[in-house]
Amino acid sequence: MYELIIRNVLILDGTGTPGAVGAVAIKDGRIAAIGTIDSPAKDDIDAAGLALAPGFIDVHTHDDTTVIRSPEMLPKLSQGVTTVVVGNCGISASPVRLNGDPPDPMNLLGDAKDFVYPSFGDYRLAVEAAQPSVNVAALVGHTALRQNHLDRLDRSATPGEIESMRQELRDALANGAVGLSTGLAYASAFSSSTDEVATLAEVLAEFGAVYTTHLRSEFATILDAMDEAYRIGRHARVPVIVSHLKCAGAGNWGRSGEVIASIEAAAAHQHVGCDCYPYAASSSTLDLKQVTDEFDILITWSEPEPAMGGKLLAEIAAEWNMPLLDAARRLQPAGAVYYGMDENDVRHILGNPLTMVGSDGLPNDPLPHPRLWGTFPRVLGHYSREVKLFPLAEAVRKMTGLSAARFGLTGRGLIREGCWADLVLFDPATVTDVASFSDPAQAADGIAAVWVNGVLSYKNKQATGQRAGRFLAREHDLRAGFESSLHFQE
Ligand code: ZN
Ligand code: CU
Repeated sequence: MYELIIRNVLILDGTGTPGAVGAVAIKDGRIAAIGTIDSPAKDDIDAAGLALAPGFIDVHTHDDTTVIRSPEMLPKLSQGVTTVVVGNCGISASPVRLNGDPPDPMNLLGDAKDFVYPSFGDYRLAVEAAQPSVNVAALVGHTALRQNHLDRLDRSATPGEIESMRQELRDALANGAVGLSTGLAYASAFSSSTDEVATLAEVLAEFGAVYTTHLRSEFATILDAMDEAYRIGRHARVPVIVSHLKCAGAGNWGRSGEVIASIEAAAAHQHVGCDCYPYAASSSTLDLKQVTDEFDILITWSEPEPAMGGKLLAEIAAEWNMPLLDAARRLQPAGAVYYGMDENDVRHILGNPLTMVGSDGLPNDPLPHPRLWGTFPRVLGHYSREVKLFPLAEAVRKMTGLSAARFGLTGRGLIREGCWADLVLFDPATVTDVASFSDPAQAADGIAAVWVNGVLSYKNKQATGQRAGRFLAREHDLRAGFESSLHFQE
């Protein structure tokens, strides 16, 4: 007997094909039948008017320590997210051995007391012990490796240090890491040479793992930075994912055409993809290089000046009667939201078939960018239903089937018999993000229920208290995922 049947529901299976109304049955944590189902179930739901999709996969997160410290994972579960990929932008909770405070931007993940996973295996055990409500796949951060093996981060690694990093990366991959991420724009990794990264990336090929990168620049030299990423991928013969692809900075507005042309040209002869979040504002630690008067910068936190959180940098500078840059210096270390993108560029990049959805949410920020709580419902409600950037089934593909294929998450991201029952039931007519820049910690509307590995985990805007997420170790060669994902894009 089936445990659950969801009937009369619009099934969006994650491949991008238009949905059909039918029934889906669940047994032993997996999808057991699809279509017309006569047999009974312990639990029978009539979901007429609602849509059922594979649980959303947040391919770009900084939830490394949050999945352990706040395993209910409400910011993600409430959006219908059932899997998070952690360890992005060169920063990961493991493998890390600190001497003092974590370097910027590793401080986005927590402070020194939160970095207690000297090896990747330690981290994996901690995630399994915490039993988060969502599945977790993990990348290893290049900056994390650098801080383990280099005495200072403002230089490239020596051949000996690169060899030590390779050993540590190999150990992590053998323990189930899905790839390597870099954050080359940050001061803590900017001085590393292309050779340093390419030599590290060679190890990925031994495991069929992926290379993801926060580009060396998202500003004027973005095309060079993209070329560097492709070159690393070609050298190491590994797939490349460009993280949170965007045209950043006023001087770069309107260049999404060039950026898309670059990634499409590369994708024609090597495995390349990208993710982005559906907002025209970015967020990270406060970076002096990004301080400008061309657009607003919102300070979200400041260690020395906590009362300034929630104010614009320009207001603070006026209050202190000093230039923007001096005010920014006084606020550091700090977090910021930069309203530094053009909406048309965001739509162009988000709308491209190569683009997956990733939140880049910052769960430790006291005033987080609303992408932390709003990303997935915003793509469905705002960008698909209201703006009509793409059909609903395509929106779902960008969050599920494509993402699972790119990251090698076997048995996830599709509604197919035998796949894990990671499912989200939502109302296509009302699903929408509620989180705003001034009030970001708000659950989305229109998410009716979420199952993780067949377990009902969220219903009527509340977690059920059952947490069924698993640690997802890399299972197979990711290059295969790039081949199969091509079929989704016809
Ligand atoms: Zn990043
Ligand atoms: Cu990031």
